[in-house]
Amino acid sequence: MANIILTGDRPTGRLHIGHYVGSLRRRVELQNSGLFDRIYIMIADAQALTDNADNPQKVRENILEVALDYLSAGLDPDKVCIFIQSQVSELTELTFFYNNLVTIQRLQRNPTVKSEIQMRGFNADEEADNKAGIPVGFFCYPISQAADITAFKANVVPAGEDQKPMVEQTREIVRKFNSTYGPVLVEPEILLPDSHACQRLPGTDGKAKMSKSLGNCIYLSDSAEEVAAKVKGMFTDPNHLQVSDPGNVEVNTVFTYLDAFCRDEHFEKFASCFVGRKSSFTFHNLDEAKAQYRAGGLGDMMLKNFLTAILNDTLEPIRQRRKELEKNIPYVYEVLRKGSEQACQTAAQTLKEVKAAMKINYFDQGVLDELIAAQTAKYNG
Ligand code: TRP
Repeated sequence: MANIILTGDRPTGRLHIGHYVGSLRRRVELQNSGLFDRIYIMIADAQALTDNADNPQKVRENILEVALDYLSAGLDPDKVCIFIQSQVSELTELTFFYNNLVTIQRLQRNPTVKSEIQMRGFNADEEADNKAGIPVGFFCYPISQAADITAFKANVVPAGEDQKPMVEQTREIVRKFNSTYGPVLVEPEILLPDSHACQRLPGTDGKAKMSKSLGNCIYLSDSAEEVAAKVKGMFTDPNHLQVSDPGNVEVNTVFTYLDAFCRDEHFEKFASCFVGRKSSFTFHNLDEAKAQYRAGGLGDMMLKNFLTAILNDTLEPIRQRRKELEKNIPYVYEVLRKGSEQACQTAAQTLKEVKAAMKINYFDQGVLDELIAAQTAKYNG
């Protein structure tokens, strides 16, 4: 069986470093691993519209932002197919057929949809508190996501843990389809980020998730100064009042970020961050720094300077590539256009197989003759 990846993002904003450690960095590694026959990266504009129906301009603008972030982070259009969801109309057709294989009750149980409904203030009861009702398209987006994945016969979906229920629901749809109509679709597996810190990088304020609306993001396209300022304001251990006090590593967001970004060689490269006027330290790895923080004596400023150095070191090549790409916007759109064209071809092939399995391929080669023969026999035989 072919080894195929599909994954993607909603274009509702620029990508931040949570996206980077949660998926983007991994995608670039997978792209370069040579282990995959095909890799599809989708900009999910149609899904973004399921809860931004009144703001198409936002979605449209962010398609380019996300594409710029992808290419700057190192995704290579010669190795991966980057495409725009709405341009592959086969996906909506597949969704329509999959709709028949899913119950409302099953959708209501999807934990990600549940929490998103809450976050967006959609209310199941439209009358209550004058809250907006749940758009049908939004409620059903897990089904459309199943279409995204299966259209490309992807067996691997690299994504964050919030996408687990989507992949699980896709697997159920695949099993239901294949047992009802015949073995056409491929059951995918989710590929989660490898560490806890990478799975859900908190915002700079220590809150559960980086999100644009909370204003707690560090963007891939932030300048070095912006990164430094944001790290400076980061949430640390509120009980660590004096540098000499013992600190709590687990509640200190700076350590969570270091868990996600720091490698041993950074301690050598940025050793000067730990040389101060009153105290200096030599660490070889993060465990040593953590031990010192727990024991007391290691200040948050040193840690923050160290984190800033690492983040800027990581982001600098990405920023440079973005600057170059920003000078060549036609190129970026050409990548998306070509990718979308290629994606259409693959999705069309799957749709053809799906329709044949569902016996709705009346006018396919040979099928019409059979139909005519059978019906003629019925009426005139
Ligand atoms: N739901 C994903 C997000 O919120 C985007 C997405 C749409 C996706 N279709 C997908 C991710 C298929 C993985 C596979 O960012």
